[in-house]
Amino acid sequence: MSTLSPRRWVLVTGCSTGIGRALVTSLRARGWGVVATARQVETLKELPAGEDLRRLPLDVTDGVSIATAAQACLDLPLTAIVNNAGYGQMGPLELLRTDELRAQFETNVVGLQAVTNTFLPLIRANARPGEGRIVHMASVLGRLSIPMAGAYNASKHAVVALAESLRMEIGPEIAVILVEPGAIRTAFRATLKQAWGDLPERALGTIFERAIHHYAERREDYAYQHGLTAEACAEKIAHALDARRPPRRLLVGKDSFWAQVAHRVLPAALFEWILRRSYGLR
Ligand SMILES: NC(=O)c1ccc[n+]([C@@H]2O[C@H](COP(=O)([O-])OP(=O)(O)OC[C@H]3O[C@@H](n4cnc5c(N)ncnc54)[C@H](OP(=O)(O)O)[C@@H]3O)[C@@H](O)[C@H]2O)c1
Repeated sequence: MSTLSPRRWVLVTGCSTGIGRALVTSLRARGWGVVATARQVETLKELPAGEDLRRLPLDVTDGVSIATAAQACLDLPLTAIVNNAGYGQMGPLELLRTDELRAQFETNVVGLQAVTNTFLPLIRANARPGEGRIVHMASVLGRLSIPMAGAYNASKHAVVALAESLRMEIGPEIAVILVEPGAIRTAFRATLKQAWGDLPERALGTIFERAIHHYAERREDYAYQHGLTAEACAEKIAHALDARRPPRRLLVGKDSFWAQVAHRVLPAALFEWILRRSYGLR
């Protein structure tokens, strides 16, 4: 074990922006040492330096990058990881290319499990029974599906399944915490527009032309008006990580809670009708 203080360290993926970035601050404030990682390590340079911070490059889709990051953590008493990295591949399924679907799963699903498997031996070596923590960032869209986001919904449903299986396999020695946020005000929506690529052009003359325009205009406003801040979301995750008996599931935001209630109690036909209308689909 390292003689470095602090006593416990956590690695977070996707710290360049958003929830990952806010988590670095929340966790450090609670006494954790944080290994902040990002695809481009220079995006981390503004994080205040300290003996409780290590910055590392980590692309979750690159096995060599993951293994190199793990090597660079061997001297730390790492007891937790937060699989936060992810993005939203939006667009109607009919117009989605297979490479777009594959890329979505490579980052949100395969990458998340690859990071988990690489760091699990380190956590085992450092954590006392019950002390280890693995956090998976799912979404309310891992519990229910919306139109125009089939690839993302499917990837987050897969994250839920991975977390539930993993928990049965390695718990209670290591706790697995599944985070299910609703809308959070981050760069996520700007990023998902980048992931659209030429989708708006592909939609021209199809039944989705109007819906894509509607999606771009309206859903972003909703998220910005009603979503929690990244800092508020990060605080809830940090609190769960600190808990002696961490929750299996952490719903973040009232929208996450009420959407899941509506999904459970409303007849499926009505639930789908409401969503179709709200996404501008006839
Ligand atoms: N915002 C929401 O409303 C919301 C709701 C539910 C769940 N979530 C989930 O919360 C997590 C964080 O999202 P956010 O809202 O904070 O969005 P964000 O601000 O866009 O941050 C996403 C982070 O993931 C990183 N990332 C993407 N691909 C990566 C890869 N291959 N390897 C390593 N890092 C990668 C990004 O890094 P780059 O800067 O290098 O691209 C960025 O740091 C995601 O898993 C997202 O699905 C978000």
